[in-house]
Parts: sequence; structure tokens; C-alpha cells
Amino acid sequence: MKSNFRKAGIIGVGTYLPEKIVTNSDLEKVVDTTNEWIYSRTGIAERRVAKDDQATSDLAIIAAKKALEHAAIDAAEIDLIIVATITPDMIFPATASIIQEQLKAKKAAAFDLSAGCTGFVYALSVANQFVATGAYDKVLVIGAETLTRIVDWQDRKTCVLFGDGAGAVVVGPVNENEGFLSFVLGSDGSGAELLYMPAGGSRKPPSLETLSNKEHSLRMSGSDVFKFAVKIMGEAAAQALMKSGHKLEDIDFMIPHQANTRIIESAAKRLGLSMEKVFMNLDKYGNMSSASIPVALEEAYHNSLLKKGDLVVFVGFGAGLSWGACALKWSI
Ligand code: ACO
Repeated sequence: MKSNFRKAGIIGVGTYLPEKIVTNSDLEKVVDTTNEWIYSRTGIAERRVAKDDQATSDLAIIAAKKALEHAAIDAAEIDLIIVATITPDMIFPATASIIQEQLKAKKAAAFDLSAGCTGFVYALSVANQFVATGAYDKVLVIGAETLTRIVDWQDRKTCVLFGDGAGAVVVGPVNENEGFLSFVLGSDGSGAELLYMPAGGSRKPPSLETLSNKEHSLRMSGSDVFKFAVKIMGEAAAQALMKSGHKLEDIDFMIPHQANTRIIESAAKRLGLSMEKVFMNLDKYGNMSSASIPVALEEAYHNSLLKKGDLVVFVGFGAGLSWGACALKWSI
């Protein structure tokens, strides 16, 4: 039976990474840590840090303009802007609305999506629904973060892990044999407090007490998140692959959330996938949460590692706890 849905896929990519580089050696002067500890435990060598006057939307707009240029479309053609972020410019309005105005994307609807580091995969699945059903033609999906604004710079367990950046893609109609094949999304709210920011919302509004307790900074139980990530990444990727009707040996390229080399290597091993097929760039950028997959994707694409027709798998995990994977046939 012929499906009534059309195929949707990625038709343009763009990124922006702030110029300022902070190396592990720089961090040795800030907290009690060493380059050796950070690199051997995480695979991170350096990260980017936004300028004081750069908010998340500023990073996102540059990435978005590049993605639109790459897709050869005008901002006026965008129907919807989805921004995956856990570091919005402010609680409201949505960072997506600020970006819509700056891009002059007059006809676009706009909203933010919060799913931790899985945000980009969640946002792609939403974009896919709108384009596949024919409701919209062009959706701009952005993953953008300024995580260095929400880390406690005195907590060596977290501040060494994160970086700032933005990646954007344009999702639009593609040929029948290309584009998104399957999505797997999940959530386990019982792990909500393994990775969270305690204050600033309705549960604990900002007060002098929350400020002095540093409750406006990210808190993480690293080893619990580590165990969860290793298990769920392999499982989610395998499920997305099966749902797409493909087998492990069909994968040309996997782009995982870039949090920790050891997590990625363990997940690939569990899955039975050779590391030659797995892309990593977290040595240069650290964990950029929802920006990490689109930034890795753009880098892989511009280094000619992706060919039209390749079977690609994205897989992410993060706060929530949440996870998501997507299988697609690369279309540009
Ligand atoms: N420098 C030196 N020593 C450190 C540092 C540091 N930066 N950080 C921690 N240590 C010490 C600890 O204090 C501890 O010392 P102790 O044994 O004397 O108490 C020791 O190193 C071991 O600490 P662990 O936390 O057990 O180290 P582990 O090997 O688990 O690595 C890490 C920690 C890198 C955080 C790891 O657990 C991890 O990567 N977890 C997953 C993090 C992640 O992926 N988060 C995703 C976020 S996604 C999102 O939605 C934002």
C-alpha cells in the first residue's frame, strides 16, 4: 500500500562555534584538575566559550544563516523554527521567537524544545512530522547552547565537560529513497535529578538562598549518567536501525551525542559497530548538549565523510533522562 506521507530529510547544514578556545591547561588554573585527567576520562582537549555579550540566539542565528545559504533558501520561506536548547536566552519568550525576528522569517511559527542533550533528535522528529504530512515545506531545526553560563566554575566534576556552540539544519521534502527512515524517542523521568538545574523555575524561584547555594548551576551524578548512557545509546541506535528495516552492517556512519569518548566507544562496542564508522569531534568542543550532533554532522559532511545515499544513524541521550535515535538516508 502506498503511504500518503512524503519523505523528509536534511537539505542544508550550518554551524557556529565561538572563537574563544579554553584548553584543559587553561582549566588547570581555574580548578583542581589536570589535562591528563580530563583527556583520559573524557576525550576532551578543549572547548569553545561564548563572549560575554553572546547569548544562545546569537550563536544560533549565525548557524541558521549558514544552513539557509547551504539549502539555497530564503528566510522568508521557512514555515517553522524549532530550537533545541537547555540554555535559552531567557525563560520566555522562546529563543526561537527571537531568532525568527532576527532572521526576518516572517511566516515562520517558532518554539523551543527542551530534551537535554537529546533535544536535537527530538526536534528533528517533530520537523519530520510536519514535512512528511505536507503541513509545512521548510523547517529550520537548531541545536544551540551556552552551557558555560550554567556550570559552576568551582565544580571540577562538571565545569571541565561542557562547551558552547550551535548547529542548524533545514528539513524539507526529499526523494522517495532518501531522508528520515525511523525515529526512536524515550524518557525516564525517574532520573530527572541525575542531571538538572535545581532553581530558577517555579519549583524554586530565584532567591538569595538559591544563589548562595549555587542552585542555578548544572548538577550531575556523572557515574550514574555514564552507566545509563552506555546502555541506552546502543539500544536506541539498534532499535532505530531495526525500525528502518536495516541491519548493523548497513550502517555507513553513526553520529552520536558527543559527551565522552569512553561512553561512545562502549556504546559502539555493545552495538558491535566498528569505531571507523563512528564520528567524534568532542576533543575540540566538549559536550555542547543539543548542539553536539548538528555540529558533528556538519563537520562530517564538510570533510566529505558523508555521501549521498549513506545510511546514517544519530543517537543521543541526556537530561530527563531522555534518549533518541534516528536512521536516515543522507540526501545532500
Ligand atoms: N579533575 C580531577 N579529578 C576529578 C575531576 C577533574 N575534573 N572530576 C572528578 N574528579 C575526581 C573525583 O573527585 C573522584 O575523586 P575521588 O575518587 O577522590 O572522589 C575521581 O576523580 C573519580 O570521579 P568519577 O566521577 O567517579 O569519575 P568518572 O570516571 O565517572 O568520570 C565523568 C567522571 C567524566 C563525569 C563521567 O562520569 C562521565 O562522563 N559521565 C557522563 C557525563 C555525561 O555524559 N553527561 C551528559 C550530559 S547530557 C545533558 O543533557 C547536558
